[in-house]
Amino acid sequence: MSDFKAGLEGVVAVETEIAEPDREGGSLRYRGIDIEELVGHYPYERVWGLLVDDDLDSAMPDPERSEPAALTGNAPSDLQAETARLSGTWKLGKLNEISDEQAREDLGRLSAQMMAIVARSARVADGHTDPVPDDVVAKGKTAAEKFLLRWRGEADPKHAKAIDTYWICTAEHGLNASTFAARIVASTGADCGAALSSAVGALSGPLHGGAPAYVKPMLEEVAAMGDPQRWVKDALDAGKRIMGFGHRIYRAEDPRSRILKETAKDLGSPQVEIAERLEAAALTALEERHPERPLRTNVEYYSAVVLDIAEIPPPLAPAMFACSRVAGWSAHILEQKRTGRLFRPNARYVGPPPRSLNGDQATS
Ligand code: COA
Repeated sequence: MSDFKAGLEGVVAVETEIAEPDREGGSLRYRGIDIEELVGHYPYERVWGLLVDDDLDSAMPDPERSEPAALTGNAPSDLQAETARLSGTWKLGKLNEISDEQAREDLGRLSAQMMAIVARSARVADGHTDPVPDDVVAKGKTAAEKFLLRWRGEADPKHAKAIDTYWICTAEHGLNASTFAARIVASTGADCGAALSSAVGALSGPLHGGAPAYVKPMLEEVAAMGDPQRWVKDALDAGKRIMGFGHRIYRAEDPRSRILKETAKDLGSPQVEIAERLEAAALTALEERHPERPLRTNVEYYSAVVLDIAEIPPPLAPAMFACSRVAGWSAHILEQKRTGRLFRPNARYVGPPPRSLNGDQATS
């Protein structure tokens, strides 16, 4: 089998109508609409409606009253466990047995609840076991405000704007690892909770959703050292990857990085200056070392700066990414249900030849 591609790079595994990352043009469109037209004009919950229902007048609902069972304060694992648990609590039907309308309803309920779980887990991590009263949370006008109120009991408008922009920019991006995981699970006919919790697990790794957690400490280290060029050289000489650079899809600038950088500037982030200096040093060094492969700033670099404006602690970054992706994952789970087929790729066996436990060569 000569067509084996490690990491399935370049392999077209599904056809989708949801998002189009424009690889060369450096833009990203949700259902044909450039994200630059969405950020600042529509709140995240309506972008959720665009992605899932192709309708900006549709929206992700508010979360229901539902008490998480056992939060640890580790948001990605809380989110994965609690999302899977909702399948049982809400008695969700299997995707191959329920209607498209029922699946859409399940995904709306789950998406909203997942945001509430992350907010509650973050609150536990802050040392509060008591929930914020419902009437306080209800004062929030957008999903981002309600998220902050559920977490901290207050919603600074700058923080809400930073989170809303981040969520919209990272709501969907084609067939990345977590979305593929969601589609694979959906393709077996499992319920929506199973598909979404699997996606959360896939997102928790540093090569996919976890990079912002490394970017802030990196910026602090560079600021303390005061010499971005030397920092980059030392890191690359030591064989390290610079978090927030490189992408499987984009060869031009990642448009999300551009929007997030502008937002960071608009909201007066104190980290922008050092981030820009490190970015310039990293781009030059990566270009020198990999002239064959454009390694540009990716979404996670300025995501980290924007999340810092909202005082999101770095360990919470993967769960914040999961909050954004509930839209994309839900849209893909529905698309998989409507058009998909069970995923069952092949593996090429390259292990030992047939052998016997007695040490003799097996005869067949
Ligand atoms: N810093 C330094 N070197 C990097 C790099 C980075 N951020 N990203 C890729 N490279 C180098 C690799 O070391 C490799 O070099 P080699 O051929 O000498 O071994 C080469 O570029 C190709 O790397 P590869 O892993 O094949 O590229 P990819 O396109 O498959 O990887 C990422 C994409 C995102 C996984 C990769 O760029 C990366 O690990 N980035 C850092 C983590 C990150 O920012 N993740 C968030 C993604 S949105």
